[in-house]
Amino acid sequence: MQIGERLLKITSFVNQNAKVADIGTDHAKIPIYLTQKNIISYAIASDKNENPLQFAKENIRRFGVKKNIDIRLGDGLKSLKKGEVDTIIIAGMGGGLITKILSDAPNILKEISQLILQPMSEGNILRSWLMENKFLIEDEVLVKEDGKIYEIISAVHGNMKKLNDAELMFGNIILQNKNELLKERINSEIFKEKRKIIGMEKSQKAMNAKEYNFAKNKLKSLEELLW
Ligand SMILES: C[S@@+](CC[C@H](N)C(=O)[O-])C[C@H]1O[C@@H](n2cnc3c(N)ncnc32)[C@H](O)[C@@H]1O
Repeated sequence: MQIGERLLKITSFVNQNAKVADIGTDHAKIPIYLTQKNIISYAIASDKNENPLQFAKENIRRFGVKKNIDIRLGDGLKSLKKGEVDTIIIAGMGGGLITKILSDAPNILKEISQLILQPMSEGNILRSWLMENKFLIEDEVLVKEDGKIYEIISAVHGNMKKLNDAELMFGNIILQNKNELLKERINSEIFKEKRKIIGMEKSQKAMNAKEYNFAKNKLKSLEELLW
Protein backbone atom coordinates (compact mmCIF):
# COMPACT_ATOMS: atom_id res chain seq x y z
CA MET A 1 0.00 0.00 0.00
CA GLN A 2 1.49 3.32 -1.09
CA ILE A 3 0.75 6.20 1.27
CA GLY A 4 1.64 9.90 1.13
CA GLU A 5 3.76 12.00 3.49
CA ARG A 6 0.82 12.91 5.77
CA LEU A 7 -0.27 9.34 6.45
CA LEU A 8 3.34 8.20 6.65
CA LYS A 9 4.02 10.71 9.42
CA ILE A 10 0.87 9.56 11.25
CA THR A 11 2.00 5.93 11.09
CA SER A 12 5.44 6.90 12.43
CA PHE A 13 3.79 7.71 15.79
CA VAL A 14 2.35 4.21 16.24
CA ASN A 15 4.16 2.00 18.74
CA GLN A 16 5.32 -1.49 17.76
CA ASN A 17 2.57 -4.07 18.51
CA ALA A 18 -0.02 -1.41 19.29
CA LYS A 19 -3.68 -2.33 18.91
CA VAL A 20 -5.01 0.42 16.72
CA ALA A 21 -8.45 1.79 15.87
CA ASP A 22 -8.47 4.05 12.83
CA ILE A 23 -11.62 6.16 13.13
CA GLY A 24 -12.81 7.65 9.83
CA THR A 25 -10.64 5.07 8.08
CA ASP A 26 -12.03 5.75 4.60
CA HIS A 27 -9.98 3.39 2.36
CA ALA A 28 -8.26 1.78 5.41
CA LYS A 29 -4.85 2.92 4.16
CA ILE A 30 -3.40 3.45 7.66
CA PRO A 31 -4.25 0.01 9.12
CA ILE A 32 -3.21 -1.77 5.93
CA TYR A 33 0.15 0.03 5.82
CA LEU A 34 0.82 -0.61 9.52
CA THR A 35 0.03 -4.31 9.08
CA GLN A 36 2.15 -4.68 5.95
CA LYS A 37 5.12 -3.08 7.69
CA ASN A 38 4.69 -5.50 10.63
CA ILE A 39 4.26 -2.61 13.04
CA ILE A 40 0.93 -3.96 14.27
CA SER A 41 -0.89 -7.26 14.00
CA TYR A 42 -4.42 -6.09 14.85
CA ALA A 43 -6.47 -3.06 13.91
CA ILE A 44 -10.05 -1.88 13.72
CA ALA A 45 -10.89 0.16 10.64
CA SER A 46 -14.02 2.12 11.47
CA ASP A 47 -16.09 4.63 9.54
CA LYS A 48 -19.48 6.26 9.89
CA ASN A 49 -20.36 5.78 6.23
CA GLU A 50 -21.01 2.60 4.24
CA ASN A 51 -19.42 3.85 1.02
CA PRO A 52 -15.85 4.32 2.28
CA LEU A 53 -16.10 1.00 4.11
CA GLN A 54 -16.75 -0.74 0.80
CA PHE A 55 -13.40 0.62 -0.44
CA ALA A 56 -11.81 -0.37 2.87
CA LYS A 57 -13.17 -3.91 2.53
CA GLU A 58 -11.91 -4.21 -1.04
CA ASN A 59 -8.42 -2.90 -0.12
CA ILE A 60 -8.15 -5.20 2.91
CA ARG A 61 -9.01 -8.18 0.70
CA ARG A 62 -6.67 -7.04 -2.11
CA PHE A 63 -3.69 -6.64 0.22
CA GLY A 64 -4.34 -9.95 1.99
CA VAL A 65 -4.69 -8.55 5.54
CA LYS A 66 -8.26 -9.70 6.23
CA LYS A 67 -7.37 -11.67 9.35
CA ASN A 68 -5.60 -8.64 10.90
CA ILE A 69 -8.16 -5.90 10.35
CA ASP A 70 -11.76 -5.76 11.59
CA ILE A 71 -14.08 -3.47 9.71
CA ARG A 72 -16.70 -1.61 11.76
CA LEU A 73 -19.51 0.73 10.79
CA GLY A 74 -20.25 3.38 13.39
CA ASP A 75 -20.17 6.98 14.51
CA GLY A 76 -16.88 7.96 16.15
CA LEU A 77 -15.75 5.65 18.96
CA LYS A 78 -19.19 4.03 19.32
CA SER A 79 -18.02 1.13 17.16
CA LEU A 80 -15.40 0.18 19.78
CA LYS A 81 -15.75 -1.90 22.94
CA LYS A 82 -13.80 -1.02 26.09
CA GLY A 83 -10.22 -2.31 26.06
CA GLU A 84 -10.21 -3.58 22.46
CA VAL A 85 -7.47 -1.20 21.35
CA ASP A 86 -4.78 0.89 23.04
CA THR A 87 -4.22 3.45 20.28
CA ILE A 88 -6.76 5.60 18.49
CA ILE A 89 -6.02 7.42 15.26
CA ILE A 90 -8.40 10.11 14.01
CA ALA A 91 -7.12 11.87 10.90
CA GLY A 92 -8.43 14.07 8.14
CA MET A 93 -11.38 15.60 10.04
CA GLY A 94 -11.94 19.07 11.49
CA GLY A 95 -10.64 19.69 15.01
CA GLY A 96 -14.18 20.41 16.21
CA LEU A 97 -15.44 17.05 14.99
CA ILE A 98 -12.45 15.18 16.45
CA THR A 99 -13.12 16.91 19.77
CA LYS A 100 -16.77 15.86 19.66
CA ILE A 101 -15.86 12.25 18.85
CA LEU A 102 -13.48 12.17 21.83
CA SER A 103 -15.92 13.86 24.24
CA ASP A 104 -18.67 11.38 23.36
CA ALA A 105 -16.69 8.35 24.62
CA PRO A 106 -15.04 8.91 28.03
CA ASN A 107 -15.22 5.19 28.89
CA ILE A 108 -13.29 4.15 25.80
CA LEU A 109 -10.67 6.87 26.34
CA LYS A 110 -9.99 5.66 29.88
CA GLU A 111 -8.52 2.43 28.46
CA ILE A 112 -6.47 4.06 25.72
CA SER A 113 -2.74 4.74 26.02
CA GLN A 114 -2.22 6.94 22.95
CA LEU A 115 -4.24 9.25 20.72
CA ILE A 116 -2.84 10.18 17.30
CA LEU A 117 -4.82 13.08 15.88
CA GLN A 118 -4.54 15.00 12.64
CA PRO A 119 -7.02 17.89 12.57
CA MET A 120 -7.65 19.62 9.24
CA SER A 121 -8.66 22.81 11.06
CA GLU A 122 -9.35 24.15 14.59
CA GLY A 123 -6.24 22.60 16.12
CA ASN A 124 -6.68 25.19 18.90
CA ILE A 125 -10.08 23.73 19.91
CA LEU A 126 -8.62 20.23 19.94
CA ARG A 127 -5.55 21.22 22.02
CA SER A 128 -7.77 23.06 24.45
CA TRP A 129 -9.96 19.96 24.87
CA LEU A 130 -6.90 17.74 25.40
CA MET A 131 -5.57 20.14 28.03
CA GLU A 132 -8.90 20.32 29.89
CA ASN A 133 -9.42 16.56 29.76
CA LYS A 134 -6.04 15.64 31.22
CA PHE A 135 -4.26 14.57 28.06
CA LEU A 136 -0.63 15.52 27.57
CA ILE A 137 0.65 16.32 24.10
CA GLU A 138 3.88 14.30 24.08
CA ASP A 139 4.80 15.16 20.51
CA GLU A 140 3.42 17.11 17.58
CA VAL A 141 4.77 17.81 14.11
CA LEU A 142 3.98 19.57 10.88
CA VAL A 143 4.09 17.79 7.55
CA LYS A 144 3.66 19.13 4.03
CA GLU A 145 1.94 17.25 1.25
CA ASP A 146 0.87 18.64 -2.12
CA GLY A 147 1.61 22.18 -0.96
CA LYS A 148 -0.56 21.91 2.17
CA ILE A 149 0.72 21.89 5.73
CA TYR A 150 -0.87 19.46 8.22
CA GLU A 151 -0.40 19.12 11.96
CA ILE A 152 -0.21 15.77 13.73
CA ILE A 153 -0.60 15.45 17.50
CA SER A 154 0.30 12.49 19.69
CA ALA A 155 -1.28 12.62 23.15
CA VAL A 156 -1.17 10.38 26.23
CA HIS A 157 -2.89 10.59 29.62
CA GLY A 158 -1.25 13.25 31.77
CA ASN A 159 -1.31 16.85 32.83
CA MET A 160 -0.23 19.53 30.43
CA LYS A 161 0.82 23.06 31.37
CA LYS A 162 -1.77 25.70 30.54
CA LEU A 163 -1.28 26.63 26.89
CA ASN A 164 -1.55 30.26 25.77
CA ASP A 165 -3.35 31.35 22.57
CA ALA A 166 -0.30 30.93 20.32
CA GLU A 167 0.49 27.51 21.81
CA LEU A 168 -3.12 26.40 21.33
CA MET A 169 -3.05 27.56 17.73
CA PHE A 170 0.38 26.32 16.61
CA GLY A 171 1.30 23.78 19.28
CA ASN A 172 3.76 24.24 22.12
CA ILE A 173 6.22 21.61 20.87
CA ILE A 174 5.92 22.81 17.26
CA LEU A 175 6.68 26.36 18.43
CA GLN A 176 9.75 25.17 20.34
CA ASN A 177 11.07 23.22 17.35
CA LYS A 178 10.95 26.27 15.04
CA ASN A 179 11.13 24.51 11.70
CA GLU A 180 10.57 26.07 8.29
CA LEU A 181 7.02 24.70 7.98
CA LEU A 182 6.08 26.58 11.14
CA LYS A 183 7.48 29.76 9.62
CA GLU A 184 5.28 29.12 6.55
CA ARG A 185 2.20 28.60 8.74
CA ILE A 186 2.82 31.76 10.75
CA ASN A 187 3.43 33.79 7.57
CA SER A 188 0.20 32.53 6.09
CA GLU A 189 -1.71 33.60 9.25
CA ILE A 190 0.06 37.00 9.10
CA PHE A 191 -1.05 37.38 5.47
CA LYS A 192 -4.70 36.61 6.40
CA GLU A 193 -4.64 39.05 9.31
CA LYS A 194 -3.08 41.83 7.20
CA ARG A 195 -5.72 41.33 4.51
CA LYS A 196 -8.44 41.60 7.18
CA ILE A 197 -6.89 44.81 8.56
CA ILE A 198 -6.57 46.40 5.08
CA GLY A 199 -10.26 45.62 4.50
CA MET A 200 -11.23 47.25 7.81
CA GLU A 201 -9.13 50.32 7.06
CA LYS A 202 -11.45 51.16 4.19
CA SER A 203 -14.13 52.22 6.67
CA GLN A 204 -13.84 54.56 9.64
CA LYS A 205 -16.66 52.66 11.37
CA ALA A 206 -14.77 49.38 11.09
CA MET A 207 -11.62 51.05 12.39
CA ASN A 208 -13.49 52.30 15.45
CA ALA A 209 -14.80 48.83 16.25
CA LYS A 210 -13.03 46.63 18.82
CA GLU A 211 -12.42 43.97 16.14
CA TYR A 212 -9.93 46.32 14.50
CA ASN A 213 -7.79 46.58 17.60
CA PHE A 214 -8.13 42.86 18.15
CA ALA A 215 -6.84 42.18 14.62
CA LYS A 216 -3.94 44.63 15.06
CA ASN A 217 -2.93 42.96 18.35
CA LYS A 218 -3.22 39.53 16.80
CA LEU A 219 -0.98 40.60 13.92
CA LYS A 220 1.62 41.92 16.37
CA SER A 221 1.56 38.65 18.36
CA LEU A 222 1.94 36.61 15.16
CA GLU A 223 4.90 38.72 14.01
CA GLU A 224 6.55 38.26 17.38
CA LEU A 225 6.47 34.48 16.88
CA LEU A 226 8.79 34.72 13.86
CA TRP A 227 12.53 34.29 14.27
C1 LIG B 1 -11.49 13.01 4.72
S1 LIG B 1 -11.71 11.35 5.20
C2 LIG B 1 -10.19 11.03 6.03
C3 LIG B 1 -9.71 9.65 5.75
C4 LIG B 1 -8.42 9.24 6.46
N1 LIG B 1 -8.61 9.15 7.88
C5 LIG B 1 -7.31 10.19 6.12
O1 LIG B 1 -6.86 10.91 7.02
O2 LIG B 1 -6.88 10.21 4.96
C6 LIG B 1 -12.87 11.45 6.54
C7 LIG B 1 -13.53 10.11 6.82
O3 LIG B 1 -14.14 10.22 8.10
C8 LIG B 1 -15.41 9.62 8.06
N2 LIG B 1 -16.18 10.21 9.17
C9 LIG B 1 -16.71 11.45 9.25
N3 LIG B 1 -17.31 11.64 10.43
C10 LIG B 1 -17.16 10.48 11.12
C11 LIG B 1 -17.56 10.04 12.41
N4 LIG B 1 -18.27 10.82 13.23
N5 LIG B 1 -17.23 8.78 12.79
C12 LIG B 1 -16.53 7.97 11.98
N6 LIG B 1 -16.13 8.33 10.74
C13 LIG B 1 -16.44 9.57 10.32
C14 LIG B 1 -15.93 9.90 6.66
O4 LIG B 1 -16.91 8.98 6.26
C15 LIG B 1 -14.63 9.77 5.84
O5 LIG B 1 -14.45 8.45 5.37
